[in-house]
Amino acid sequence: MKKYSEMSKEELLKEKESLLHALEEYKKMNLSLNMARGKPSVAQLELSMPMMDTLHSEADMVCEDGSDCRNYGVPVGIPEARRLMGSLMEDDPENVFVFGNSSLNIMYDQVARSYTHGICGNPPFSKQEKIKWLCPVPGYDRHFKITEYFGAEMINIPMNADGPDMDMVRDLVENDPQVKGIWCVPKFSNPTGIVYSPETVFAFAALSPAAPDFRIYWDNAYCVHFLYDDDHPFIPEILSECEKAGHPDMVFKFASCSKITFGGSGISAMASSKNNLADIKKTLTVQTIGHDKMNQLRHARFLKDHDNVIEHMKKHAAILRPKFELLEATLDNELLSRGIGNYFKPKGGYFIAFEGPDNTAKETVSLASDCGVVLTGAGAPFPYGKDPDDKWIRLAPSFPTPEELEKASEIFAVCARLAYLKTLTA
Ligand SMILES: Cc1ncc(COP(=O)(O)O)c(C=O)c1O
Repeated sequence: MKKYSEMSKEELLKEKESLLHALEEYKKMNLSLNMARGKPSVAQLELSMPMMDTLHSEADMVCEDGSDCRNYGVPVGIPEARRLMGSLMEDDPENVFVFGNSSLNIMYDQVARSYTHGICGNPPFSKQEKIKWLCPVPGYDRHFKITEYFGAEMINIPMNADGPDMDMVRDLVENDPQVKGIWCVPKFSNPTGIVYSPETVFAFAALSPAAPDFRIYWDNAYCVHFLYDDDHPFIPEILSECEKAGHPDMVFKFASCSKITFGGSGISAMASSKNNLADIKKTLTVQTIGHDKMNQLRHARFLKDHDNVIEHMKKHAAILRPKFELLEATLDNELLSRGIGNYFKPKGGYFIAFEGPDNTAKETVSLASDCGVVLTGAGAPFPYGKDPDDKWIRLAPSFPTPEELEKASEIFAVCARLAYLKTLTA
């Protein structure tokens, strides 16, 4: 396949003409396809329907500590749910609190608590002159929305193949007391699919922050979400690494079952040091008399333990893997073979981040939208929605059916080619 960079102006114009024609044909099809958000597909949701049978009108509703799950109480989570989430997060259940349906919600609450009341006796963020937050990019748009909402100045940190640029992180964290946090998705990162290397995790644990209230927000949303049954990347457990390095309070870990059972109807959890959890409990007990313990019980009885969850995740992988491979084949055959863009082949998670040529992302998204294909907005994986090079597009292959995905990826490739041709022939 001839690369666009090797084509004459005449050839480029001819190629553009034929793609414009293809675009007009797609527009006539009145399609409505969506590769924007990382939602589990209907087939994946079906996998967890037997969970609904674990609680029924005859079921024993008493959890291990003797509490009746139909009633108020146990704000830190029922013991079996803490043990389950601890097994997924590799933490002692003692260090795990189980909350409600959304981990994003508990991340928001943690930032909100820090803002209004401060962390472990430190002044509230709202009383401090300025708050800065480190944002590995491209990253998760909803993380950035939280810190934008609370007025933090967000600083882009480039993502390398083994995690965030740790020299830059160290320099900022160790020298600037206004730096209070960093967003991390250590495994199958959203949206690049990158897994942090052990060296990156050790470098995090070794940080000596200038601010006593600096925390690493370790969102392990994809901790068991592998695509290949025999390829599960290992990363060291950050909480114990921080403890070994003498910084036991430096990390808040988050996870949820949204992409294990039901999107937005799973259970969420936070793991941290005893100090941090005691601090959190002070506001937690003002906030609620207890989360949805029936859902916690349902999850504990259905998912049981780590090994059982891994078996369950293999069923998700069997549905997701062909979709990722289909999308990757389209990117390879239609774009990379023409010298257009690049991407990292993820081994898990929910996304592929396509790095197109500079100044093409917005145009690609807009052309796709004209054809009825919804993509995540260009710029979304960056703080303030601003991709300085306008080149990253997050692709989410999970939700569409294989047939829909095939069409959507084909159209995406045509739009990306056209957007690049427009810059080359401008
Ligand atoms: C990195 C990351 N964290 C958190 C979430 C949301 O999780 P929850 O459904 O538990 O709020 C997502 C969802 O896409 C995600 O990608």
